[in-house]
Amino acid sequence: MADELRLFSGNANKALAQEIADYLNIGLGDAVVNRFKDGEIQVSISENVRGVDAFVVQPTGPPAENLLELLIMCDALKRASARRITAVIPYFGYARQDRKDRPRVAITAKLVANLLTEAGADRVLTMDLHAPQIQGFFDIPLDHIYAAPVLLRYFDQSVKGDVVVMVPDTGSIKMGRAFAKRLGASLGFVDKRRPKPDAAKVMNVVGDVEGKYVIMIDDIISTGSTLIEAAKAIMDLGAVGIMAGATHAVFADDAVEHLSSSLIEQVVVTNTLDLAGVGNGKVKVLSVAELLGEGIDRIHGEKSVSSLFV
Ligand code: R5P
Repeated sequence: MADELRLFSGNANKALAQEIADYLNIGLGDAVVNRFKDGEIQVSISENVRGVDAFVVQPTGPPAENLLELLIMCDALKRASARRITAVIPYFGYARQDRKDRPRVAITAKLVANLLTEAGADRVLTMDLHAPQIQGFFDIPLDHIYAAPVLLRYFDQSVKGDVVVMVPDTGSIKMGRAFAKRLGASLGFVDKRRPKPDAAKVMNVVGDVEGKYVIMIDDIISTGSTLIEAAKAIMDLGAVGIMAGATHAVFADDAVEHLSSSLIEQVVVTNTLDLAGVGNGKVKVLSVAELLGEGIDRIHGEKSVSSLFV
């Protein structure tokens, strides 16, 4: 039926897409997202989508096929005459390449924004962008929502006593301030440098952590080295314990094993990325399906999305 909401999913995080569909009380749209024998991606939409309000759920972290699947799905929906296509990107990959921080590097986050628009996306719904100003890379409407309510609810219930919220770099200060305010905690800061890509070195810990319980907040955990190195420095200064929270669990290489043997008691993340098989006692996965589902419902109903967070 024209203008109906339809939810499609690529292969990057089908479990989350299914949870969102359950929240919306609809089924997932009928589409084939497969590979030809040579590895090329084959997409075909198996139902009539003329005039529908289509949403495609797909995080765009590695492998690059995830991004490509999303682009090809948008193209297929556009050519099948969907009225509006919203790319729902729970984790926006390539966001850390958002500026020329060295000569002769690409601004890949901008390239991804251009590709999405070219493929036919009319709008984007995404969560905890590494840098909020990436919104400006798009000339189509973008709704940016936050996993904070889900993480905060968990910390609120599990951590008691004298708490300090620490952030491991300047980019996360705004996020940390919001967490500290909501948890009635003080705010601290770890001055981190990167001697080389994917390695972290703690230069200074700013804030009083002695005798306090620390919650470290970041947007992304990749190798885990930022959090692991920060935890060592913080415990050396007399903190009584540490938990970590992050929205996007990229978990590169052996990150889960390294985090398991670290000084961090629990690592709380969300399911913006597919975490099937992460089954580790120290990693707690919270679902953002309800937040994304509510965002989708409000976009479809032309209602305010920002009021979800007041
Ligand atoms: C960097 O600016 C991000 O906020 C994270 O701190 C970073 O991506 C974490 O990477 P890793 O886990 O590899 O230290």
